[in-house]
Amino acid sequence: MTTVENSATRVDNSHTPVVLGGTRGGPDQPTLRTDRWWLAPVITVAILSSFVIYATWAAFVNKDYYAGATMHRDLISPFYSPCLTQGCLTTGASMGGHVLNWWTISPALLILIFPLGFRMTCYYYRRAYYRSFWWAPPSCSVSDAHKSYSGESKFPLIMQNVHRYFFYFGLIFNVLLTYDAIVAFNQPGIGIGVTVGTLVLVINATLLWLYSLSCHACRHLCGGQVRSFAAHPIRAKLWKFVTPLNAKHMQFAWVSLFFVAFTDIYVRLVASGTISDFRLF
Ligand code: FES
Repeated sequence: MTTVENSATRVDNSHTPVVLGGTRGGPDQPTLRTDRWWLAPVITVAILSSFVIYATWAAFVNKDYYAGATMHRDLISPFYSPCLTQGCLTTGASMGGHVLNWWTISPALLILIFPLGFRMTCYYYRRAYYRSFWWAPPSCSVSDAHKSYSGESKFPLIMQNVHRYFFYFGLIFNVLLTYDAIVAFNQPGIGIGVTVGTLVLVINATLLWLYSLSCHACRHLCGGQVRSFAAHPIRAKLWKFVTPLNAKHMQFAWVSLFFVAFTDIYVRLVASGTISDFRLF
């Protein structure tokens, strides 16, 4: 063990003993930082935990996820789209409704595997929850809560490498939710128009597209492993399009997370009759 200042031979309160080259982690001297470095991990834990608790409840509750013809609306919650089972009380928003008649519990439990898998393996969210939940490390210049580090080379974290495949599934869901947003312009018994619910579904689909297009796997898909962009002009254009989005991936990750929960809450309130979906025109 080496110290910057050997306090045994010289007492100098202007120097703080620092362990150099020690093992990662250790409870005795976790950090020299005096700022509120713990604030970001605490906020992250609070928000992600709240989302997981709400999404779990919403997935199991299995009702009030669709405002249909009796309300002159065609609004479906993103948690329950596409309609897969007889549990979906939907008409126009169905992308293959009633195909899984054997599935008797909430269809959201089938659907949410893909968007949740996409977010769980997201490179940005990994940084967020490795820091906040696992403290590995909780912040820059703060010790790990663990004494060893194997990266993502072993089970279970090696599973994070499936992210690019969840990205492909995420694109399919974006198409489905875009379809739902278009269908939401239909007001059964009234005609084509726009309600607050229509706007909510359109904004939700837009934010999810921005989140997907700013994904690191998407940027790699567009411009990765290209030696010369001059020889691949289309990929160069795609890469130039997604690169500025990629720089804002963290913001898109949070905003789209909030909004997808808000969209479910809004549809739920309308479908349960708690609020009316205001018609703009
Ligand atoms: S890196 Fe975040 S969604 Fe792909």
